[in-house]
Amino acid sequence: MQSFAHFTPTPQKIVAQKPKTISSKEETTLPGYPHLHLSLSIGAVLQGSADPLEEAVHRADSLMYQAKAKKNAIVLEVGPLTLRERNLRQQRKRQILIVEFRNGESGLHVQHIRALTEKILDHLLEKTSDYKISAEEQDNIPLASALHDIGKITIDENILNKPGRLTKEEFEVIKTHCMQGANMLRRLENFEDEPLLQTAYDIARWHHERWDGRGYPDGLKGNDIPISAQIVSLADVYDALTSERCYKEAFSHETAMRMILNGECGAFNPLLLECLTDIQAELQKKL
Ligand SMILES: [Fe+2]
Repeated sequence: MQSFAHFTPTPQKIVAQKPKTISSKEETTLPGYPHLHLSLSIGAVLQGSADPLEEAVHRADSLMYQAKAKKNAIVLEVGPLTLRERNLRQQRKRQILIVEFRNGESGLHVQHIRALTEKILDHLLEKTSDYKISAEEQDNIPLASALHDIGKITIDENILNKPGRLTKEEFEVIKTHCMQGANMLRRLENFEDEPLLQTAYDIARWHHERWDGRGYPDGLKGNDIPISAQIVSLADVYDALTSERCYKEAFSHETAMRMILNGECGAFNPLLLECLTDIQAELQKKL
């Protein structure tokens, strides 16, 4: 599998040629290799003069994965982002960075979760087209993952930072952070018009659910749990195990993987466990 980026000063020409040159969505057999099939997925954006290159590349990359999920499709973002859209995106990123900063437990934890969420999500989209995740959602899920524990700001710090084992009652208090966080997000003025906040709501509310229905707060089961929350849940557990906390040492990557795969941290979607296993060489290097 190969992927590459192509930059052109004359995108109009490519867009105009698209129907003639790359309109086929059929798989192609390679000459001499009847069992090998060639497929093509393209994500393309037109970069405006004020559009930062890095952001345009990121959008093109997301669209390519969206195309891949649709199998051999071409997904083209017709125009560059308007100034308003770009400002909104920047603003969202800034808001989330502020939350990361205030959620002291874990500036680093939040960054790890975001990186890990992005990796698992990208790998999931390469593996299957079963989940319909739009390009916008692909952008939003890692960003929104930063807010997964936002409800913890309502929890008593003595419980949150308790070094020893929690009592049953204290654990019940901790468990309320999911609904607290979800309610905080839902109460935001622009919740109804803002897909990023809606994704953040799903993640905050359901990131402690488990595939077998034994999680909380709602006991959702299987794919009734939004895929965004399933991914963040797995990222959260992996990072919690491999990081030092006030109540525990950091486990090695191998121990963490063994515990997750053995079901010691609850049941996860088998496909996501495959994704985590597939990307583990990358995880060991660094997040
Ligand atoms: Fe949590």
